[in-house]
Amino acid sequence: MKTYRIASIPGDGIGIEVIAAGLRVLEALVERDGGFRLDVKTFDWGSERYKRTGALMPEDGAEQLRDFDAIFFGAVGAPDVPDHLTLWGLRLAICQPLDQYANVRPTRILPGIESPLRGVGPGELDWVIVRENSEGEYAGQGGRSHRGLPGEVATEVSIFTRIGVERIMRHAFVLARSRPRKLLTVVTKSNAQRYGMVMWDEIAREVSRDFPDVTWDKMLVDAMTVRMTLNPSSLDTIVATNLHADILSDLAAALAGSIGIAPTANLNPERRTPSMFEPIHGSAFDITGKGIANPVATFWSASMLLEHVGERDAARRLMDAIEKVTADPDLHTPDLGGDATTERVTEAVIAAIRSRND
Ligand SMILES: NC(=O)c1ccc[n+]([C@@H]2O[C@H](COP(=O)([O-])OP(=O)(O)OC[C@H]3O[C@@H](n4cnc5c(N)ncnc54)[C@H](O)[C@@H]3O)[C@@H](O)[C@H]2O)c1
Repeated sequence: MKTYRIASIPGDGIGIEVIAAGLRVLEALVERDGGFRLDVKTFDWGSERYKRTGALMPEDGAEQLRDFDAIFFGAVGAPDVPDHLTLWGLRLAICQPLDQYANVRPTRILPGIESPLRGVGPGELDWVIVRENSEGEYAGQGGRSHRGLPGEVATEVSIFTRIGVERIMRHAFVLARSRPRKLLTVVTKSNAQRYGMVMWDEIAREVSRDFPDVTWDKMLVDAMTVRMTLNPSSLDTIVATNLHADILSDLAAALAGSIGIAPTANLNPERRTPSMFEPIHGSAFDITGKGIANPVATFWSASMLLEHVGERDAARRLMDAIEKVTADPDLHTPDLGGDATTERVTEAVIAAIRSRND
């Protein structure tokens, strides 16, 4: 029997609550499937560790993860630790050394969930956003001089490399080709940003020549927000820079009903290192400890994890169970307008997994 080694990093806030729920659902799937096992090791990395020891994870943290088949991540961020320390101290400290350069973010309106967009139903918003996850605006280049003085200077440098842009474009074209509509939109800002973004556009055009069966177009990021809102069905696969896709995918999640349902995969497509699966939301200080965090984003991320390791039946079974549960408004958490708890939604998904006969 196959055993997959999973590193679980719940992190902070509701990350701890939704990963606990996600692991219970994964256990139910393992039991139901009978064809594979999960060997889960949990790491206590996060803000509490930072407050205790001065580091969110050990110095060789990313190295410790190398031998796992996948990473299941919650969220990082605490009200009393600066956000740039938590993000760079844990999430980016894993994504960058493990070269998880393709951040894939599917968004669609699940059954029973209402989009805030008037008259837009399930078939009309079905996107996958591909976010460049290793460079661009989050490359980590920059600095500060003359701190605290009136002449203080801060720079934040965006880095675009030919290798980095080409590999994300290729990943996006391959993904677009695998979807029925074979449609890709390349998001840019090459009117205002004359170097990195112009090279981004040029490389998109070059890569497109290898994908004559994919229809593609180019959108300025500002106009893209309008198109996502007013004409969602005109979009399918979307590729954007680290910052642009970070923002657009929160918008996408809101348009699909809630940030509490949006999943993501940080992939090393060549599988040289483990990929990481996580809800796109953060640690949500405002609802931590209340038992009302929506676990659906984490469950959907778990389904992507199973798909990635090759357990397609279990991945589909989980997605079916999620959709059965979202279809019932009685099982909606407060972010979706309901009053269900994390526990109730988790129990309902587990029951749906157990009740299926196939
Ligand atoms: N990947 C990550 O680890 C990640 C991502 C985003 C933010 N953060 C961190 O999280 C902290 C809070 O950030 P924020 O408030 O900007 O974003 P957030 O995603 O934590 O919360 C934004 C809003 O969405 C709600 N929300 C988020 N997830 C939900 C869920 N599963 N169910 C119901 N409601 C949900 C929250 O209650 C809040 O009102 C910060 O420290 C930030 O740096 C971490």
